[in-house]
Amino acid sequence: MGPAGEPVGSAAALAAIADEIRGCTRCPLAARRTRTVPGEGNPLSDVLLVGEGPGQREDATGRPFVGPAGRLLDELLHSIGWERDDVYVTNVVKCRPPGNRDPEPGEIATCASYLERQERALEPAVVVSLGRHSLQRYLPGARIGAVHGRLRRSYIGQHVFPMYHPAAALHQASLRETLFRDIRGLPAALLAAREALASEVERSVASEEAVARADEHDRSADDIEQMTLF
Ligand code: URA
Repeated sequence: MGPAGEPVGSAAALAAIADEIRGCTRCPLAARRTRTVPGEGNPLSDVLLVGEGPGQREDATGRPFVGPAGRLLDELLHSIGWERDDVYVTNVVKCRPPGNRDPEPGEIATCASYLERQERALEPAVVVSLGRHSLQRYLPGARIGAVHGRLRRSYIGQHVFPMYHPAAALHQASLRETLFRDIRGLPAALLAAREALASEVERSVASEEAVARADEHDRSADDIEQMTLF
């Protein structure tokens, strides 16, 4: 087990979280689901896609984004040369809200610890938020119309690339073009996020080394002082 009590390694940690989700009865959505939809994809990916909640097909299969919105998601990924297996996909809530209604704040809050643990296990360089509810988790108060398609930092420093939900484009044709335009920026956003994270690591190593050198300097000064006392 790692320090947070999860199994070591992202694949094992994500599998353990998924097992827990499958037995979850923490909120009323559990009573009406057919299956939970914990998430799936590449456990070593640097990109986490977060949708809203399972729909009918997802509830029936236990897999995220396998209905019409999922088909559009696949087209979007293919348009930049990516496959599902290049990313990890999950949702803000892991059980289907009845009739595909929006998830309620209490349901989102109850489910949040699963998503937090998935984020910690995967440590993605970029989180792609799909739709309003996912956006609110990372950039509370932000309006999708104002922030979509550009890399942002969440209040805890995660790199977030907000996008409209693919299902929105199934109802509003003009959003389809926006989605395809936005996703074209994702590979560059991923590179920028990786570079920012690497330089943050470099800076923190450099500052730890500076502290260690200062400690060493203080210790040598103490030793000299001790020697002069005798
Ligand atoms: N919509 C979502 O937000 N998630 C899914 O898994 C499917 C549709």
